[in-house]
Amino acid sequence: MKITEQISKLKVVPVVVIKDIADAEPTLRALCEGGLPVAEITFRTACAADAIKLGCEKFPEMLIGAGTVINAEQCNKAIDCGAKFIVGPGFAAEVAEVCRERDVLYLPGCVTPTEIITAISYGLEIVKFFPCSNFGGLATLKALSAAFPTMKFMPTGGISEDNVLEYLAFDKIVACGGSWMMKGTPDEIKAKTASAVAKVQ
Ligand code: 3PG
Repeated sequence: MKITEQISKLKVVPVVVIKDIADAEPTLRALCEGGLPVAEITFRTACAADAIKLGCEKFPEMLIGAGTVINAEQCNKAIDCGAKFIVGPGFAAEVAEVCRERDVLYLPGCVTPTEIITAISYGLEIVKFFPCSNFGGLATLKALSAAFPTMKFMPTGGISEDNVLEYLAFDKIVACGGSWMMKGTPDEIKAKTASAVAKVQ
């Protein structure tokens, strides 16, 4: 199955920040056991690349990608560590080029028509809409979709169990990103993940 199809079937992409590599395995296991075998592991911490590598080795059934990727160096490192998709808070041409060369899905953050046009010029079909709630949420997404009918979105930022269904009901949205299930102990993460899965599936 294509990565985009896997993401759209899962419907939710947890945004995962691993501060200590010792947390990687229990955190990713909690997501899997909660029924959401997917993680966007953010390049915001020193152990991000190691966490991606560990995740790919220990949880081969999981779809593991890298988030907060803002340059070619991080992008290459993430792909070398096994990341199956690359997410960024904004559009970075050098990241788009690496992903194109290495045939890896790139979901850049785009919130303006100009940014979406840039993404289209690189052949991208899905962008992250981030930070979603700050940029007008669903109303803005609907307005952008009118101008870009073929573009699909992964809104992230301000999504929670309370509003995720409203977003997913819009057919231009492939999945929602978010960290609402990532707080607390592994058991709490597992419970919140299971609750999210029960809601969206
Ligand atoms: C992030 O980059 O941290 C994500 O956008 C998560 O946003 P959220 O915490 O509002 O879900």
